Amino acid sequence: MNASIANDRNTDHVALLMDRVESSADATARALVNTVLSPRFYTTDFEAFDRLDIEPVRAEWDAMMAEYEGDNNHDHFQRDAQFAEEVKRLMPQLSPELRQEFLDFLISSLTSEFSGCILYNEIRKNIRNPDIRQLMTYMARDESRHAGFLNQSLKDFNLGIDLGGLKRSKKYTFFKPKYIYYATYLSEKIGYARYITIFRQLERNPDKRFHPIFRWFERWCNDEFRHGESFALIMRANPKLLTGVNRLWIRFFILAVYATMYVRDHNRPLLHEAMGLNSGEYDYEVFRITSQICRQVFPVELDMDHPTMRRGLDKLVEISAAHSRAKLKGGPLGLLLQGVHAARAALTFGRLFFLPVKSQELPAQVRSVPVW
Ligand SMILES: [Fe+2]
Ligand SMILES: [Fe+2]
Repeated sequence: MNASIANDRNTDHVALLMDRVESSADATARALVNTVLSPRFYTTDFEAFDRLDIEPVRAEWDAMMAEYEGDNNHDHFQRDAQFAEEVKRLMPQLSPELRQEFLDFLISSLTSEFSGCILYNEIRKNIRNPDIRQLMTYMARDESRHAGFLNQSLKDFNLGIDLGGLKRSKKYTFFKPKYIYYATYLSEKIGYARYITIFRQLERNPDKRFHPIFRWFERWCNDEFRHGESFALIMRANPKLLTGVNRLWIRFFILAVYATMYVRDHNRPLLHEAMGLNSGEYDYEVFRITSQICRQVFPVELDMDHPTMRRGLDKLVEISAAHSRAKLKGGPLGLLLQGVHAARAALTFGRLFFLPVKSQELPAQVRSVPVW
C-alpha cells in the first residue's frame, strides 16, 4: 500500500475506502463484522425481563402504550415518487469516496436497527410478562420498518442485505439484562439525537441534502425517542438499577457509547462534510442533546466539555487509527503493536472514566418530550 496513505492519521477511514462495498455480498460482509466499534447483535437472560415490574410507573406506562397503539408513524415509511427521482438525480453526483462513506452509514444504521428488532423479538418470544411482551411487540414492529426502509435504499445501489441470512450468521453477544437497559436506553436516545441533528442541519441547508432518506429522519426519530422512554420507565420503576455500584456501570456505559460513536464518526469525515457538518461538532451536539435527555433517568452525567475529556476522545481516534495501521501491517510485529494500542486505548478510557461527574436529582415525572 501507498506509504503516504499508510501514514495517514485517519487510517480507519482509508481502510474503509480501500475495503469498498461493491456488491450485496460486500454489504452483508460489512454488516457481519464484529469489532469494538461495529454494531452487534445481543442476547440476554430473558427470565429477568419476565420478572420486571412496572407498577410504580403504571400511569406513565399506560399513556406510552396508548401512543404505541396509536402509531402515528404507521404510514411514514413509504417512499414517494419524489424519493425515486431524487435518488436518480443525486446519487450519480456523489464522489466515489463519499458514496463509500454513505454506504457504510446505511449499512451500520441498518445493522443497529435490525439488532434492536431481533433483540426485542427474542425477548417477546421468551417471556410471559404481559406489559413487557406488549412493549417488545411494538418496538420490534418499529425497528423492523426502520431496518426495511434503510435496506430499500441499499437496494437502490443493488446492495440489499439478506436480513434473514444476517440474523442466522452474525455472532450474538450476551449482555446481562441491566447492561441491556443502560446500553439500549442510551443507543435509542443517541439514535434520536443523531437523526434529529442531521434533520435540523439539512432543514437549514436543503442544498446539502444529498439523499432523500434524510427527509424521513424527523418522524423516524420520534420512534427512537419513544423506545428510549420505555427503557427510562423500566429503570425508574426499578430504582436499584440507578443507585450504589450501578452508578459506576451507568458512567461506564455512557462513556463507552459516547466514545464508540466519536471514534466511528471520525471514520466518516466526508459524510459529515457533505452535510455541512464536522464530525467532532456533530458529535458534541449529539452528546449535548443525549445528556440533557438522560437527566430523566441517570443520576450522573459526564462532563463532555472537560478539556481532558475532549483531548482523551481525540486520543482514542488516533489510537484507533494506529491500531488499524498495525492490523494492515500484519505479522508478529503487527500483532504486538495491536496489543500495545489496545492497552493504550484501555488506559485512556480508564482516565476518562475517573474524571469527575455531575450528580443530579431525578425528576418526579419520568417522561419527556422530543423538543430538539
Ligand atoms: Fe429504530
Ligand atoms: Fe429504536
